[in-house]
Amino acid sequence: MTTKEINELAADRRQFLKTSGLLTGSALLAQLPLGLSAAPRFGAHSSVDDTIKVALIGCGGRGRGAAMQALNTKQNIKIVAIADAFQDRVDIAYKTLTSRQDAAQKIDLPKERQFVGLDAYKQAIALADVVILATPPGFRPSHFEEAVKQSKHIFMEKPVATDAPGIRRVLAAAEEAKKKKLNVVVGLQRHYQSNYREAIKRIHDGAIGDIVGGSVYWISGGVWVNPRKPDQTEMEYQLRNWYYFNWLCGDHITEQHVHNIDVANWVKRGYPVSAQGTGGRQVRTGKEYGEIFDHHTVDFVYADGTTINSQCRHYEGTYSKVDEQFLGTKGRIDSFNGNKTILKGYKGQPIYAHGSAKTDIDPYQVEHNELFEAIAKGQYKFADAENGAKSTMTSILGRMATYSGNLIKWDDAINSQISLFPDQLAWDAKPKILPNADGFYPVAVPGKTVTV
Ligand SMILES: NC(=O)c1ccc[n+]([C@@H]2O[C@H](COP(=O)([O-])OP(=O)(O)OC[C@H]3O[C@@H](n4cnc5c(N)ncnc54)[C@H](O)[C@@H]3O)[C@@H](O)[C@H]2O)c1
Repeated sequence: MTTKEINELAADRRQFLKTSGLLTGSALLAQLPLGLSAAPRFGAHSSVDDTIKVALIGCGGRGRGAAMQALNTKQNIKIVAIADAFQDRVDIAYKTLTSRQDAAQKIDLPKERQFVGLDAYKQAIALADVVILATPPGFRPSHFEEAVKQSKHIFMEKPVATDAPGIRRVLAAAEEAKKKKLNVVVGLQRHYQSNYREAIKRIHDGAIGDIVGGSVYWISGGVWVNPRKPDQTEMEYQLRNWYYFNWLCGDHITEQHVHNIDVANWVKRGYPVSAQGTGGRQVRTGKEYGEIFDHHTVDFVYADGTTINSQCRHYEGTYSKVDEQFLGTKGRIDSFNGNKTILKGYKGQPIYAHGSAKTDIDPYQVEHNELFEAIAKGQYKFADAENGAKSTMTSILGRMATYSGNLIKWDDAINSQISLFPDQLAWDAKPKILPNADGFYPVAVPGKTVTV
């Protein structure tokens, strides 16, 4: 390496540490003489060691899982704050994290750093170098904005919003994160799964020719219901049952199926220009299921005219398939399941076969391994938010199509001014969607419902 290159690299690293808020003042000065081979020191509040401080926002199943994956990384991390809307969820997270006896040194969660409430995220974010955002996706735009404003590195779960105004906020904050060189990983973990990475690299290199069609699926059973309790406000009821309300969840086409839709975008190296589709509530019609549909099927049309069909449904006791398949001009790919992927020609001749599950690391772990390694090394490597937002937008485009029954154009969808978020966020405030006297919520009616 030449002296010029070394100086440039050192300047880059100084800028990274400065802009990412990880080193300031005397810590930054102390860092400079260490030379390029030494690991950068970390901690906005610690200038004496290399601890990377982590805050968990949203203490549910995925948040606790992500925190565990952060603990499994090789870096010197410490979980210093947790936050949730509800005390019982904070308590479960505290119990789960402190039960990891092998990681006892990495948990530092006194009562005063366990935050509860709808604004709790702000205080937790302030204490960390890296934040894990794992609440229901309706809150992601405001939490992501805050984390970027406070110059934190970020792991945020998918989806990243539930409506177009939310998407636009995430896109704007993503630009800001890039300027500040904040690493942002989005939990679309197929991007961190080696059979997807290897196969899609080859598809992009032309192994099966141009992609001219495909189908993506999330057809499975449904999820949990938390029965209404007499002392709950409507706001608490909806938060406890966030899956069934679009301002919080986006419907399952967004909440789950975004994974497969995102793979279609990845393979096509772009986002659809329009969508049309059909959906409704066939088997899951009770009032406990809020306003979401139980099935959607959508044709997404890309700029080159390719149509990718998407299917998602929640029917208990039926055939299941969570997968993607694509047709190219020279060959096809029938499945990514089980960490196996085979690209083949139309006469069955093998083009590429990716190995077995045994050799691949769990992608949920890979996301954290790669993120924390980059942060520890002072590297700016991950800017997933823009794609996360545009793939989430694709799923919202699909919902707009099935709810309205109309052909919806991408440009109209992403510019939609329809905001699903409540005008006021408080336990006694009213969400925009409310039950009728019998407890049923209004449900979209294709042909009548307006979505853009
Ligand atoms: N990548 C994946 O494969 C994957 C898997 C599961 C879940 N997820 C995503 O993770 C997110 C969370 O899902 P989950 O299954 O953990 O749900 P969950 O209900 O188990 O957890 C969500 C938590 O967020 C809390 N919360 C709600 N509003 C909050 C607020 N305003 N501030 C702070 N906390 C708040 C809830 O009380 C709850 O504890 C969702 O976006 C989901 O799509 C991703």
